[in-house]
Amino acid sequence: MKDFCVADLNATVSLNGFPCKPVAEVTSDDFFFDGLSKEGNTDNPFGFAVAQGNVLSFPGLNTLGISMNRVDLAPRGINAPHSHPRATESIVVIKGKVLVGFVSTSNVYFYKVLTVGQMFVIPRGLVHFQYNVGHSKASLLTAFNSQLPGAVIVSRTLFASNPPIPNQILTKTFQVDDDVINSIKSKFA
Ligand code: GLV
Ligand code: MN
Repeated sequence: MKDFCVADLNATVSLNGFPCKPVAEVTSDDFFFDGLSKEGNTDNPFGFAVAQGNVLSFPGLNTLGISMNRVDLAPRGINAPHSHPRATESIVVIKGKVLVGFVSTSNVYFYKVLTVGQMFVIPRGLVHFQYNVGHSKASLLTAFNSQLPGAVIVSRTLFASNPPIPNQILTKTFQVDDDVINSIKSKFA
């Protein structure tokens, strides 16, 4: 086994992960990532920005089983309900006051309002969100036990897939009329 396997993102071989860049070509920069240092632009309807430090942006993480994101939230901004199929997530607030919550497979809602330095953990695969309940901007760092946790964003999955899920599935699922579904779909078009 090797100490590290910096991802060769351009390799053509197909496997579950990335093959290693030749050791002679590895430098200190391969173990450095600056992508979480700046506040993201939250000027959007969700008041939300995420910067992802996963193997695709930070190839030095390849085979190491970890990654991190930075989330910025405007006041009342939301990181909408989503789940990570490949990772547990731990969250630490670095600025502001944030409501974090998840729902278990028994449909119990677990939540907490976090201030700076406080942590919360989201067990693998469960649907969760973060919402800025403070009066100023909020930022958090999230850490994953996967180099590429993946994200299933509930709203986009159901209302903005490609091709779209047929309305009859969604009207039946949510027990509403077509116009409700069309209205939600139009927001994600
Ligand atoms: C937050 O939930 C994140 O996935 O970064
Ligand atoms: Mn998450």
